[in-house]
Amino acid sequence: MTTLQWMVLDHAVAVIGAAAWFGAGAAAALRRIGPALALLVAAVLATAARVLTVAVLAVEGWWYVQEKVLFGLPVALVTGVAAVLLVGRALLRARRAGRDTLGSGRVAALFTAGYAALAGLIVTFVVGYPLEWSTGLVALAGLMAASLLTVQAITDAADLPGAASAPGVASSDRAPARLTRRRLVHVAGGIAVTSAAGGTALAFLTEPTVDTGGGPGPKSGEAFSVADLRGPATPGPGGSLVQHRLTAQQATVRLASGEELRDAWTYDSQVPGPAIVAHEGDLVEVTLRNADIEDGVTLHWHGYDVPCGEDGAPGATQLAVAPGDEFVYRFRADQIGTYWYHTHQTSHVGVRKGLYGTLVVHPRPAPGDAGLDLTLPLHTFEGTFVVGDSAGPTGRVASPGTPVRLRVINTDSEPHELALAGATFRVAAVDGRDLHRPGDLDEVRLRLPAGGRYDLTFAMPERPVALVIDGNPDAGVRMRPDGAEEVDLSPTDVDTWPELDLLAYGQPTAVHLDPALAARHFTIVLDRGVALVDGRPAYAHTVNGLGHPSIPDQLVTEGDVVRFTVVNRSLETHPWHLHGHPVLVLSRNGTRSSGSPLWMDTFDVRPGEVWEVAFEATNPGVWMNHCHNLPHAHQGMMLRLAYDGIQPIDSGHHHAH
Ligand code: C2O
Ligand code: CU
Repeated sequence: MTTLQWMVLDHAVAVIGAAAWFGAGAAAALRRIGPALALLVAAVLATAARVLTVAVLAVEGWWYVQEKVLFGLPVALVTGVAAVLLVGRALLRARRAGRDTLGSGRVAALFTAGYAALAGLIVTFVVGYPLEWSTGLVALAGLMAASLLTVQAITDAADLPGAASAPGVASSDRAPARLTRRRLVHVAGGIAVTSAAGGTALAFLTEPTVDTGGGPGPKSGEAFSVADLRGPATPGPGGSLVQHRLTAQQATVRLASGEELRDAWTYDSQVPGPAIVAHEGDLVEVTLRNADIEDGVTLHWHGYDVPCGEDGAPGATQLAVAPGDEFVYRFRADQIGTYWYHTHQTSHVGVRKGLYGTLVVHPRPAPGDAGLDLTLPLHTFEGTFVVGDSAGPTGRVASPGTPVRLRVINTDSEPHELALAGATFRVAAVDGRDLHRPGDLDEVRLRLPAGGRYDLTFAMPERPVALVIDGNPDAGVRMRPDGAEEVDLSPTDVDTWPELDLLAYGQPTAVHLDPALAARHFTIVLDRGVALVDGRPAYAHTVNGLGHPSIPDQLVTEGDVVRFTVVNRSLETHPWHLHGHPVLVLSRNGTRSSGSPLWMDTFDVRPGEVWEVAFEATNPGVWMNHCHNLPHAHQGMMLRLAYDGIQPIDSGHHHAH
């Protein structure tokens, strides 16, 4: 079984256990001794099963179980054992004697075990990892309060005339309960209130603003602003100037395939925005003007390691460009490959509505026969799936032997599944970076993370070829030799093809980065839970239990080798994306990367996965580090990686841009 399956099973037995405890309590209160006994047995079995599921998950990683081991399981076991000792024998005796009532204290014990199971579930779903002492205490106080209120309610009910049909049992239980319950309820209430207040205050007081990852803390010294980290003014040797003016504006766009997109947000009234193509060494200079996007816009060069001041992260590297304003971006095209650009302001809305485009940098000198080179951003507009600028399938003609390169870019927030039917091909590059000796592939599916890019290369065969996306025959690219029939996409059984594991694809080769030398190591645990997002409590997508901007900055020093452990204990995929640096994938779920060195800027961390990656801190700045499912980032899953001595734009230092 996979970690995800164990996670789901653990949630399931936890829910079953809580339901069974409450059911047993309710049955006992309703004097249904038989069902109460059966439910008690079910509750005990479910609680025992949880010991197993938690133990298995603990082997997968402490992050998956910390709150369960420290809180959920202990309270479940203590209250469960107490309930069995108090109630089990009594139930058996009652059944034998033909009686149908239990004392109210015993009924309350069953409910208390139910509250404990429920409290464990709430802590898991609301708090998650890491569980702080303060939170654990608040949860415990809540559990006590609920239990005592139940004692009160049950004994009040038992006090009603005629309610006690077995006076011998009821009165002996009732008397001490009546004596103590008010006081106990007050005490429990007091504890709950104090712990809640204390816990909250503690959480605010001790919140660190920076995570050093086990490395040295910040050195005080003069700090300079990312606004000063700008690109060069001249091209590199042999390069020239590639200039664009992009105007961000709302527009109704007509796609090449005829569909109309109303209410699009565009660069230059088109989607995707103008394709930016450069050659190695060129100076790319893009003037962004905002016509009428009220929220403001920027240009972020996804996967391109530009100087930080050019990165287009509002609030960190620049202020968002307001309507009527301009910003000029300049950077050298030093990295060849397939990239894209998009707005980073309100990006969960802006990118979806169309503020994105492609950036492709060719090597210099350009290779002889470029063949058929297609750049294919995949995007979904309100249910309309668009490849490039076309909503239907795109047809191309290429003579046999033509080298073909398909640069597939996922500009959506969910992964897309690719399959190339009809040709033996290679994944030549991932996220713009060439793989080392990628092998021939046939009949495999490729899963492209949100934000990610794959370059697929092949020589055009004598038969038609189809790029199938998400198994959908009505979208994608069909290529055929002149005169050949178009390939029929529908019968292709791509669903049965195995998924390519990029961690085992291509051949290993030496890399300059030695992860053993890591100066800092950060753990990023992804989950859902209640957290502050932009200062407001929300059911957030969290990083280590917190939401943006309350997540501490990760501090690095220029030159550090840095490691990330990224753990997903939620039930959704999180495409993790660090700005400004590609990361080298070291392992997934403990299995080392065994193929070509795999450098990625966006990697899918699926539920129950643990990724180890490393990078070199060689690009000073303040960089966003976030989930590229953009609604998730908006709901908290975003933080910053900050170089020591560098200030973000919003820190009170004033710099013109
Ligand atoms: Cu493609 Cu922070 O983004
Ligand atoms: Cu996410």
